[in-house]
Amino acid sequence: MIDPRFQKINDLFIDFSRGNFDTQIELSNQLDEIDAFISNINMLGEELKSTTISLNYFNNIFHSVSDMIFVLQPDGKIKNINHSVKLLLACSEDEIMNTPINKLFPSSQNKLFKEITAQLQQDRKIVSSTIKLKYKNASIDTQCLFTHLYSEQNENIGFLLIARDVRKIKEYEAKYQKIFQDSSDAIFIMNKDNRLLEINKAGKQLLDLKNELPFILDLFADASEKMNFETALKKNNKIRDFYFKLKSKRNKHTDCLISVNQIGEDSGNLQGIIKDISIQKANETIVINTIIQTEENERKRISSDLHDSLGQQLSAILFYLSTIKGNKKLSPENVSEILEKSHDAISSAVKELRDICFNIMPRTLENYGLLEAIKELCAKIEKQEIFKFDISFPKTKIELPKSLETTLFRIVQEFINNTIKHANADEVKIKIKLENEFLLIDIQDNGIGFDPENNHGKFGLGLKNMESRLLPYNGKLEFKNMLNQGTYCRIKIDMHYINDTKS
Ligand SMILES: Nc1ncnc2c1ncn2[C@@H]1O[C@H](COP(=O)(O)OP(=O)(O)OP(=O)(O)O)[C@@H](O)[C@H]1O
Ligand SMILES: [Mg+2]
Repeated sequence: MIDPRFQKINDLFIDFSRGNFDTQIELSNQLDEIDAFISNINMLGEELKSTTISLNYFNNIFHSVSDMIFVLQPDGKIKNINHSVKLLLACSEDEIMNTPINKLFPSSQNKLFKEITAQLQQDRKIVSSTIKLKYKNASIDTQCLFTHLYSEQNENIGFLLIARDVRKIKEYEAKYQKIFQDSSDAIFIMNKDNRLLEINKAGKQLLDLKNELPFILDLFADASEKMNFETALKKNNKIRDFYFKLKSKRNKHTDCLISVNQIGEDSGNLQGIIKDISIQKANETIVINTIIQTEENERKRISSDLHDSLGQQLSAILFYLSTIKGNKKLSPENVSEILEKSHDAISSAVKELRDICFNIMPRTLENYGLLEAIKELCAKIEKQEIFKFDISFPKTKIELPKSLETTLFRIVQEFINNTIKHANADEVKIKIKLENEFLLIDIQDNGIGFDPENNHGKFGLGLKNMESRLLPYNGKLEFKNMLNQGTYCRIKIDMHYINDTKS
């Protein structure tokens, strides 16, 4: 009779042939040669099981990586590919097998494989190259790594090519380059020692550079600003909107803001941006000068109003009253005549005082807003029969910051004063409306007009102030040349800007 263990050995081998290495045979009590044989077979099973697992493991990695992997024969023919190759080159394993890898390179690079293998031959290391891989309709920019494949006996059995799809990276790079080059601010990269490594077009222009790359610290015109910048940057490795006066190569000084940040965690390099704020600074100066000038003018005007009108009226009253005082000879008729004159002088002094107050700051503007104040101004002028007004205002209330209301009132007032002084007009049209988030104030007189572009230098403070008063609000003032047909001007305020700056 055949030992039943042979049947078990037979079944085990059938399992092994099916790739199942989990089964083991129990040893008998005999512990004879057959048991020793079984024990060896069990060990073989375990060995096969572990190598199969690592093979599967390797296969999983091989096929699931997003990089394309090609196993090449020593002559460069494709021997094996992973799943990513099939996906990216849209090919099947069968069709691409045995294709020389050179066929996937651009025709201009048909010697590339030879060159790479020659390089590998020299130092057995990895060779890296940027290659556009083409197969049928697919064309993919890749970063390729080539390396030798060796057998256990250290024989060269081919090559391994790992190709990374870099199209997305290239796209990002192109986008970044575009932002970098097209930015109107100076963008730069510098190293830890503050030396510029790269700078965009706007930067070269601002710093007056050609190809030279100076130290950032050499751009500081002021020694204390330079020191503060250096200390702050050393401490935090970044800096935001640091104000400094930039000194260009030709020693031109420009008001600037600089921000610097580290690139990545470990890179020693920093990236930065320099904003030229000289225009803002100049505008700030204009605004401050306007405020000072306007204040000075107002003071002069108030003082001359008080002196010329109220002062005169009060002097007259004083004179009338002093003729009564101590003059016993005056008849009651004379006294009542003088009192009558004094009364008239006092009421016109009160009216003068009201007008002066209105000019300083109309109460209506403070209490009821811009539209009501303009209406009141027009009514006052119409009362004096200087000219008529044709006004059209929006029905709904426009919410504006108080300071902007005062600014707009002063501009309208200056336009009307100019019409009174220079235009010889008999009508002024004022139209205020909200259109596409813009506040528009159109004013037009029908006087002699003037050419704002070519006014023979006859620019007083009035027109200049009209413009500069609008600067803080980013407002626009447009005069239209309407020579002989009157003067037209449009004030344009972007309500988005006003609402944004309010919040
Ligand atoms: N509505 C207008 N019609 C005709 N000419 C005008 C009108 N507005 C301005 N001008 C011309 O433009 C010039 C400049 O005006 P601007 O308001 O700047 O100065 P001004 O009125 O002469 O003096 P200021 O306003 O400083 O008291 C005027 O002198 C005048 O020649
Ligand atoms: Mg004027």
